[in-house]
Amino acid sequence: MHLLVTGGAGFIGSNFVHHVIAHTDHHVTVLDKLTYAGNRASLEGLPDARLTFVQGDICDAALVDELVAAADAVVHYAAESHNDNSLDDPRPFVDTNIMGTFTLLEAVRRHGTRFHHISTDEVYGDLELDDPARFTETTQYNPSSPYSSTKAGSDLLVRAWVRSFGVRATISNCSNNYGPYQHVEKFIPRQITNVLRGERPKLYGSGENVRDWIHADDHSAAVLTILDRGTIGETYLIGADGEKNNKDVVELILTTLGQPADAYDHVTDRPGHDLRYAIDSSKLRRELGWAPRFSDFTAGLADTVQWYRDNEAWWAPQKDATEARYRAQGQ
Ligand code: NAD
Ligand code: DAU
Repeated sequence: MHLLVTGGAGFIGSNFVHHVIAHTDHHVTVLDKLTYAGNRASLEGLPDARLTFVQGDICDAALVDELVAAADAVVHYAAESHNDNSLDDPRPFVDTNIMGTFTLLEAVRRHGTRFHHISTDEVYGDLELDDPARFTETTQYNPSSPYSSTKAGSDLLVRAWVRSFGVRATISNCSNNYGPYQHVEKFIPRQITNVLRGERPKLYGSGENVRDWIHADDHSAAVLTILDRGTIGETYLIGADGEKNNKDVVELILTTLGQPADAYDHVTDRPGHDLRYAIDSSKLRRELGWAPRFSDFTAGLADTVQWYRDNEAWWAPQKDATEARYRAQGQ
């Protein structure tokens, strides 16, 4: 099978490409614009015979048409992905997340190509800390930020293209990923690299906000499972029962790196900050037989800390500019 993977030089997309090369015979073509978030180095070491890299924009209809025509299936990761950036300048989020997804859908419609759309649990809004409920495939959409609203919009486009045009698509909505190759603007890599540089971690607001962590490799395995055995038109939630509040995660990073657990700062909170996400992934487990491998968050986080220790050359070029942007926002 020949897979076209959009956003394959980003965090989760590159983890997926490594996973596909290791676990299947598929050929992969990556289409990636290499925005500030994309990094060609995240695909280094993979065999040339199995991987073709194309630098380009998913909004470029002619390029997208040519690449979709040559593929058996498309897995669509490319997006503007960071909530804080979407509060600063929403425009690229509308362009890439909405118009880029539209451009891909029109191409797969023309060519009858199988399409898998990668989305997020943030489309469902947030939960109270003491709410026993978790998100399911039938939870009502209620996105909070420009980022999550554009992801919600892209999900709805996919659903409409399935129903109206018979496009063979599936959707997955996953919780917060951690693991190697994640940009230093995101919570876990930002705090790890702060400590490695002798800076204190920065916790937004009280730090009570809860995220439901899953290792990126478990996300990749789930996506391959859906691509293989998912029912066309269906949505699957992906999560690994990894709820943790931000304060606990920062303390774990600090102790893993041999620092006092309270050596962090509270900084300005994110406007509209979602309180809690929690995924019920029982449909995916029951119907398709997927289960996460990384069930021990402390061990998975220790591996991730070690990866950032070993790969300073990968993250250091981004660190100063990222921290300068945060400083300007009081974060
Ligand atoms: P990322 O920001 O690390 O990577 C995004 C990639 O897309 C980059 O390589 C970037 O260059 C590329 N890209 C951006 N605009 C493009 C365009 N117009 N054309 C082509 N390429 C473009 O993001 P990520 O964290 O890896 O997220 C990947 C996908 O997974 C996104 O769709 C995101 O919504 C979704 N998701 C992320 C998480 C998470 O925890 N990070 C959780 C659930 C779902
Ligand atoms: O839930 C899935 C989503 O997870 C994905 O759709 C997004 O693409 C991905 O970025 C992520 O969104 P979050 O906003 O949850 O992730 P972020 O890493 O930005 O922040 C995680 C939590 O940590 C959140 O509560 C904000 C907080 N935070 C973040 C940073 C960068 C801090 O306390 N300090 C920080 O420095």
